[in-house]
Amino acid sequence: MSKILVTGGLGYIGSHTVVELVKAGYEPVIVDNLSNSNIKILDQLTKIIGFKPVFHQLDLCDVQSVISLAAAEPDITGIIHFAAFKAVGESVAKPLKYYQNNFYSLINLLETYYGRKINFVFSSSCTVYGQPDVLPVTENAPIKPAESPYGNTKQVAEEILREMTASGSACKVISLRYFNPVGAHDSALIGELPIGVPQNLVPFITQTAIGKREKLTVFGDDYNTPDGSCVRDYIHVVDLGKAHVAALKLMETEGYSNIYDVFNLGTGNGNTVLEVIKAFEESTGEKLNYQIGPRRPGDVEKVWGDVTKSTNVLKWTAELGIADMMSSAWNWEKYLSQNPF
Ligand code: NAD
Ligand code: WQD
Repeated sequence: MSKILVTGGLGYIGSHTVVELVKAGYEPVIVDNLSNSNIKILDQLTKIIGFKPVFHQLDLCDVQSVISLAAAEPDITGIIHFAAFKAVGESVAKPLKYYQNNFYSLINLLETYYGRKINFVFSSSCTVYGQPDVLPVTENAPIKPAESPYGNTKQVAEEILREMTASGSACKVISLRYFNPVGAHDSALIGELPIGVPQNLVPFITQTAIGKREKLTVFGDDYNTPDGSCVRDYIHVVDLGKAHVAALKLMETEGYSNIYDVFNLGTGNGNTVLEVIKAFEESTGEKLNYQIGPRRPGDVEKVWGDVTKSTNVLKWTAELGIADMMSSAWNWEKYLSQNPF
């Protein structure tokens, strides 16, 4: 069984990917410093996969810890690097916090494993495209100046990875550019755990419906979109987990010689904010309290991905639609209200 290091494996996308790795026959080795996760997620994962996965609690910014980790786990064949800070607004207020965590952790990992034959999957983001000129956005679209320090960490990390592979590192790397990950595992045992007031749409919707927030504000209805609210490509987190397995499998394929590659991970379809609200109401039977408010500064009007390359090369396509995304997110919120973390 191939051992895969999953950094940030107790986080939102990492925990769902651990489940898919186990289903695909891989042995995950989880690393997390719990800076944005909860140790109880380890027990929740144990309930889903039927055994307690190996877990190392450490900060990847501490190079000695990473060196000790590599010594303790010498037979790693792949790394999926989720660990990073991800709040766009906070990154504007505290850029150094983001540059420090997102770069130190990446560089410590790359430096420690340099020269070893490792398949490396990197969590990138559609944020690297900003507001694209052409929709759907392909992987070849120009990378615009980053709109936040967070976005800049993803752009520069992609460059670091490309340059590192070109330098003869022995690693293969795939950067996966996620669009808008939402939803939760169908067991409702794991899901997104926002700290404080959620900044993202779907956790704000579910927290409003459960009564933790009074009402959702739709940030603008005067955009050039079908109903005036912004358009995004929402992607189910379980589909996202499966895409990471596909990325590892691709790099393991005999004859696949690309040392660095990039793929969009979305459904290829856009939904407006108002459509998401409607889908939530229809799939859950809950009425959502919401109002239209002003635009949120920095919001992109519309973005959705061209997934031709993911379909043809990665051999991965999203299977779950917006109704599944909403109902699973709602089931997770209901679980949390009964079983607070
Ligand atoms: P998350 O915060 O839930 O998970 C990240 C995990 O990494 C957390 O468990 C955190 O404790 C851990 N971590 C952070 N810094 C660490 C460090 N220095 N050492 C060890 N562990 C550390 O976030 P997520 O939503 O699961 O995102 C995972 C990755 O995907 C991130 O790189 C994020 O930038 C990227 N991404 C997320 C989204 C999204 O909307 N959720 C979209 C695009 C890309
Ligand atoms: C979605 C839509 C809002 C909250 C962010 C990051 C991006 C990537 C994905 C990491 C937008 C609207 C939201 C609310 C609303 N993350 N909205 N009311 O901004 O598309 O992308 O997450 O890489 O980098 O920027 O996601 O969930 O915040 O917003 O109307 O209370 O919902 O305006 O149109 P976003 P989001």
